[in-house]
Amino acid sequence: MTRVLIIGSGFVGRGIAREVERRGCEAVLASRSPLSGPDRWVCLDVTDPAACTRVLHDVRPDAVVAVHGPSDVTWCQQQPRLALKAHRDATVNLVRAAGTTRLLMISTDNVFDGVAEANDELTATSPANAYGRAKRAAEVALDQHPDATVLRVSLVYGPEEPRSDKRPNFAAYCVRDLGAGKIVNAPVDQWTTPVHVGDVAQVTFAALARAPRLLHVGGSERISRVAWAHRFADRLGASRTLVAAVPKDSGPYACRPTNSCLTSVLLPDLLKDWGLRIRGVDEGVVDTLRAWP
Ligand SMILES: NC(=O)c1ccc[n+]([C@@H]2O[C@H](COP(=O)([O-])OP(=O)(O)OC[C@H]3O[C@@H](n4cnc5c(N)ncnc54)[C@H](OP(=O)(O)O)[C@@H]3O)[C@@H](O)[C@H]2O)c1
Repeated sequence: MTRVLIIGSGFVGRGIAREVERRGCEAVLASRSPLSGPDRWVCLDVTDPAACTRVLHDVRPDAVVAVHGPSDVTWCQQQPRLALKAHRDATVNLVRAAGTTRLLMISTDNVFDGVAEANDELTATSPANAYGRAKRAAEVALDQHPDATVLRVSLVYGPEEPRSDKRPNFAAYCVRDLGAGKIVNAPVDQWTTPVHVGDVAQVTFAALARAPRLLHVGGSERISRVAWAHRFADRLGASRTLVAAVPKDSGPYACRPTNSCLTSVLLPDLLKDWGLRIRGVDEGVVDTLRAWP
């Protein structure tokens, strides 16, 4: 593999691009707004079928990763038709445009209702919200492609550049606000299996060469947002009193499943084959702080 087209040049897409380049391949990022910085970028609105065909023809990638937005679960809940267009209809476009080129889509734990604490690849889907329904519909659309993989990932975290159009990932929010002595609102009743962006990127790169059609990538630990925020407070030397334990329904996490958690019956063996491992929560906290800009 020499060239990977990454559709979506946000937090996760750029993390994957860094890994692709680190492994000696060329990453081409695609999105609607131009990027600053040295990354190779092409303009693409993935909801436009003709534009997808044109970009695939011009870039001639060996593999495509679909990791575009909208990523805001609350926004999707308010705009379900636009969410469906951006995820399902865009995937239909990519399946057509990609032909037989390998296609990998980053999906989500929100395809489950979150009642159970663990969801593996054999668990029946039951989307929790409009975002989960849109991503599930995209997964079904991807099924029409002969060489595709759905990579469902849990909450992705790590250092993230501040943006006016996006709330930072929960870890970045904790570091930024706890580090500044500000209160962080952390749900007591929402659990995740958070996974570091570097681990998602490494698994994605490995999966581009070979992977099952469906693979779950969650962190190794199930943790509530409030307990996770405490770990950040402890490492930062901040008081735990800065962490306000709130019910999830009181804030922007209302439409999230109670358990945004992924387990896998496939990942442990694949990680051994690939020589990779997924870092635990404490290691991820340390690494996030170490790489903080
Ligand atoms: N972050 C997570 O925890 C997580 C977990 C599970 C799955 N995912 C999946 O990964 C995706 C990306 O997450 P993220 O955190 O990296 O989001 P992000 O930082 O908001 O990045 C989204 C990217 O998609 C681009 N985009 C949006 N609409 C587009 C369109 N119509 N055509 C082309 N590009 C478009 C955006 O750029 P422009 O607006 O300039 O086009 C942006 O570069 C999510 O949507 C989700 O499906 C994320």
